[in-house]
Amino acid sequence: MSELLSIDHISVSYGNIQALRDVSIHVREGEIVCLIGANGAGKSTLLKAIVGLEPLVSGSIAYKGEVIARNDHAFGSHNPLLRFFKNPKHAAQDTRSLRTDEIASRGIALVPEGRRVFADLTVEENLDMGAFLIDDDAFIAKKKKEMYEFFPILGMRRKQKTRSLSGGEQQMMAIARALMSAPKLLLLDEPGLGLAPLIIQDIFEKIEIINKEDNVTVFLVEQNARMALRTSDEGHVMENGRIVLSDTSEQLLENEKVKAAYLGE
Ligand SMILES: Nc1ncnc2c1ncn2[C@@H]1O[C@H](COP(=O)(O)OP(=O)(O)O)[C@@H](O)[C@H]1O
Ligand SMILES: [Mg+2]
Repeated sequence: MSELLSIDHISVSYGNIQALRDVSIHVREGEIVCLIGANGAGKSTLLKAIVGLEPLVSGSIAYKGEVIARNDHAFGSHNPLLRFFKNPKHAAQDTRSLRTDEIASRGIALVPEGRRVFADLTVEENLDMGAFLIDDDAFIAKKKKEMYEFFPILGMRRKQKTRSLSGGEQQMMAIARALMSAPKLLLLDEPGLGLAPLIIQDIFEKIEIINKEDNVTVFLVEQNARMALRTSDEGHVMENGRIVLSDTSEQLLENEKVKAAYLGE
């Protein structure tokens, strides 16, 4: 399996608060990789950095081998010393970070924390928003049909305003909206947040089907460590902006520290 997403030694700060410290995570094509951590650990910040919404203080992020985000201050063209030492072969593609829409058009879709649905738009209009980069009506119609088949409840409610949907239905709609652009890499920010256990189970089953049947690579962040580790191939544990543990999810479920701190065992 080839590497799809390479996060290398990144740091992100909000003013004086360092939210991410030297974080490295690698996601191979076809995998489900999860990141677990308590509230405030830095999980959402990492996802925002991947899609270009938070600038890096150091490090770089590559997608399919192409740098999509980097610390422009340290490596930018205004630093003649680093420019001199940089491999000229990579110079053309390595000079800047990409904009969020450029990253999306390469095949990365984010389902943000708290779903961020457009409450006053209908389900159908929300799905149309997910396809805003696509200029092919036949493709959009085909995708919508697929989404209504995969999430039948959305098909039944497609003309309803999103605010009338339950939390679980809104989460499914947020996932469907992200899938409208046919991404290769799906980033999910706490899809289980605030939902009842049975609904969470439903959503994680869908995530597995999306991964296995549609061949979408998934990077999932969750406070619900048990569900995330049961669903994923590999996992990373984040504490105070640092990765403190990385292993197969199977091993992490058996890890005494993980059990005590995240699984309540
Ligand atoms: N826009 C922001 N401005 C300042 N601090 C922020 C901002 N967003 C997040 N933080 C801080 O960064 C840290 C990590 O936050 P976050 O990435 O949201 O964590 P998580 O998603 O794991 O709950 C926290 O200390 C949080 O308070
Ligand atoms: Mg968060």
